[in-house]
Amino acid sequence: MRAVVMREFGDPDVLHVEQVPDPVPAAGEALVRVHAVTVNQTLDLKVRAAGQVRGTTLPHVLGVDPTGVVVDVAADVTGTRVGDRVAVLPHLRCGRCEFCTSGREQQCPNSRHIGVHRWGGYAEYIAVPAANLLPLPEALSFVDAAVVLRHAPTAFHLLRGLARVAPGDWVLVMGAAGGLGSIGVQVAKLLGATVVAGAGADARVGLARRNGADHGVNYRSHDLTDEVLRITGGRGVDVVFENIGDPELWPKAFATLAQSGCLVTAGAHAGGRVELDVRRLYGRRLRILGGAGASRADIRSAIEAAAAGTLHAVVDRVLPLDEAAQAHRLAEKGGLLGKIVLDPTGSVQT
Ligand SMILES: NC(=O)c1ccc[n+]([C@@H]2O[C@H](COP(=O)([O-])OP(=O)(O)OC[C@H]3O[C@@H](n4cnc5c(N)ncnc54)[C@H](OP(=O)(O)O)[C@@H]3O)[C@@H](O)[C@H]2O)c1
Ligand SMILES: [Zn+2]
Repeated sequence: MRAVVMREFGDPDVLHVEQVPDPVPAAGEALVRVHAVTVNQTLDLKVRAAGQVRGTTLPHVLGVDPTGVVVDVAADVTGTRVGDRVAVLPHLRCGRCEFCTSGREQQCPNSRHIGVHRWGGYAEYIAVPAANLLPLPEALSFVDAAVVLRHAPTAFHLLRGLARVAPGDWVLVMGAAGGLGSIGVQVAKLLGATVVAGAGADARVGLARRNGADHGVNYRSHDLTDEVLRITGGRGVDVVFENIGDPELWPKAFATLAQSGCLVTAGAHAGGRVELDVRRLYGRRLRILGGAGASRADIRSAIEAAAAGTLHAVVDRVLPLDEAAQAHRLAEKGGLLGKIVLDPTGSVQT
């Protein structure tokens, strides 16, 4: 098969398409022909640049969320059949820790990751444990499924599970044109919130508004706190969906919280070291909750909403496998309007 094999860590030029033997499914595994896989900052670009920090070994194939069609299954696999349309769920839980044995496997501290700790989906085929396969509804394209599953379960976990967003709440979504942010806008709307979208350029605010945000603020050209207080009539928002960790923006976002409000986060691309106004925290009975991961229910909600057409993937472009290095350069540069997706079937026209 053709695969983007990485033989050293470094800049995007370390990504080369090579001919390698087709993977053979081991006991309990299935072989999937990959139709789509997303390109991510943390799980792709950072692993490519310095994967040894996360325990990635070389040679390696990136790609954490492939979707595609089952083409072979090991003899002992039941419940998965050749021809099934599936998504690959990336987490490989330990199955032994206190979290795995009490139904809270998303908190497993020993979790390994397909595409980081074993070969991923930047390839024509991938062999994975059949237990990691999720059937896809016919209505959902492979590209949309990969993008939605990358971000929507996390958005449901943060907004519904942690912040408990309810109809009528005000939610400020930061980075609202990014991968997680554009889905966050839509999930907050699904939960009945009024959404203020924050983004770093007018075009990106515009994208978030087209995704359903009720209001928008360019937080690089305007004072975020002033604008959100103006929009909410001085009250502030119930929830900040943060996920950036920028030293300048974080205090501005935190200051938009209404009494008893809640800031949720699972990301820190912009550094993650921020200043906290502790008096404001306790005086206004505010909460700050962190929480990567998602539950089975979050994954189910994501797929159901996408299949029903109430949640859609925001895709900047789809590129063939040969353009993996270019895809990384584009993602590194930033300013994309949605996700970059690779299609290893060779059917993409560029
Ligand atoms: N499944 C998930 O989605 C998931 C799960 C766990 C954790 N996370 C984390 O959530 C964060 C967001 O992920 P993502 O996939 O949405 O990333 P993304 O598509 O790159 O979006 C990040 C957004 O943050 C804004 N931003 C502001 N300052 C930034 C800076 N200095 N560097 C980078 N971005 C900056 C950017 O928008 P503007 O330019 O408009 O400001 C950008 O749209 C990441 O830290 C990721 O690791 C995501
Ligand atoms: Zn575990």
